[in-house]
Amino acid sequence: MRKPFVGGNWKMNLDGAAARTLADDVARAVAADKLDRACDVAIFPPFVYLPHVFNVLRDRSSSVMLGAQDFWPEPNGAFTGEVSLAQLKDCGVQVVLAGHSERRHVIGEGDELINRKTRAALAAGFAVILCIGEKLDERAAGKTDEVNQRQLRAGLAGVPIEHAARLTIAYEPVWAIGTGKNATPADAQAAQAKVRSELGSIFSPEAASRIRIQYGGSMKAGNAAETLAQNDVDGGLIGGASLKADEFVAIVSAAAAAPRGR
Ligand code: PGA
Repeated sequence: MRKPFVGGNWKMNLDGAAARTLADDVARAVAADKLDRACDVAIFPPFVYLPHVFNVLRDRSSSVMLGAQDFWPEPNGAFTGEVSLAQLKDCGVQVVLAGHSERRHVIGEGDELINRKTRAALAAGFAVILCIGEKLDERAAGKTDEVNQRQLRAGLAGVPIEHAARLTIAYEPVWAIGTGKNATPADAQAAQAKVRSELGSIFSPEAASRIRIQYGGSMKAGNAAETLAQNDVDGGLIGGASLKADEFVAIVSAAAAAPRGR
């Protein structure tokens, strides 16, 4: 059985005080309602606030995991402006994103770099959320599964099967991110079932049956439950709605309450 996993990607938002308050509110609510028994939760603050948020989570002995939105795959050296995995580990980070659509399509990261990042972070012991998903024109051309397959194959090239246990996939149709449009629950399920079968041929069907696949793209408290009830939707990666504690915690509650048995 796959335990649902919900991540809050704060992107380039908030200041230090707001980051502390949001982390504290999330940690308190998750503990009060014992949501962590049925759902793993991670939050991804901007780099500069990682130590602030780490302190808040530590002070509350929180099970909420600390995540980083990005990193550079080399261990150290002349990479001005970048942050290494060892530095993130030093700040208490447990989970990282790779291949987020804004890194791919706004910043311009390609499949090769995303693969290096994915391999490096898994090898360094981090949990990794590898994000994939099609753009609007690709969807219109019926290429959703083809794009997902390509991004999975490229992103996971050379990843040993022993590392699959620390891997999560986030299926995030690019046209649904931050737009208020989201895939229908049936569309998310159809795409994610294909993702799982592709993971089966990359690793093994058994390993694929244990990998969590999140949906991301305008998931909100009001629309989460139906999507999270789909067989191959094992949680969500949440952007805008993760910036309000009550909205984010409502999504975590919906994931914790989603029908099990998968
Ligand atoms: P959104 O972002 O929830 O604001 O659409 C999702 C994401 O980018 O992970």
